[in-house]
Amino acid sequence: MTKFLLLALALGAVHAHSELDGEWVTTAIAADNVGKIAKQGPLRVHVRKITCHEGCDKMKITFYVNSNGQCSETTVVGYKQEDGNFKTQFEGNNTFKPVIITKEVLAFTNKNVDRDGLETHLIYVVGKGDKLSHENNARIEELAKEQKIPTENIREVLST
Ligand SMILES: *[C@@H]1O[C@H](CO)[C@@H](O)[C@H](O)[C@H]1NC(C)=O
Repeated sequence: MTKFLLLALALGAVHAHSELDGEWVTTAIAADNVGKIAKQGPLRVHVRKITCHEGCDKMKITFYVNSNGQCSETTVVGYKQEDGNFKTQFEGNNTFKPVIITKEVLAFTNKNVDRDGLETHLIYVVGKGDKLSHENNARIEELAKEQKIPTENIREVLST
């Protein structure tokens, strides 16, 4: 019985990781420093694709940002740490973690420290191109409160 349970848990974990893989688009972003996620903000990240490697110890994220009228595509690799957070460099240092994993929506928390040492706490929500359901919207508001990000700082992002 225990063996079966462990197996089920192990399979569950593998399954959860594989749910990260695929094409995703940014649905919403929240930050305590809203300037960072404004229209041409450096952390207004438009996600395109996520792939897990090595049992998801490495997570590759492809996205683009729009700045100064320039659209640039970037791929970063997040490296999983012992505490379960991933680290990567983009506009400074980032420590992020997937906190909601479902088939239709993923949500990540992120802490960015830029070159001036400014700390920004963010939430990135990615989906399959649909608007957030009421239920998921409520979950993101709850998550924002947990992260001490004002709920009025949640920005819907239209995919372009
Ligand atoms: C990022 O982290 C590295 C290693 O901890 C550190 O040397 C560097 O100064 C950090 N950069 C910023 C922008 O905080």
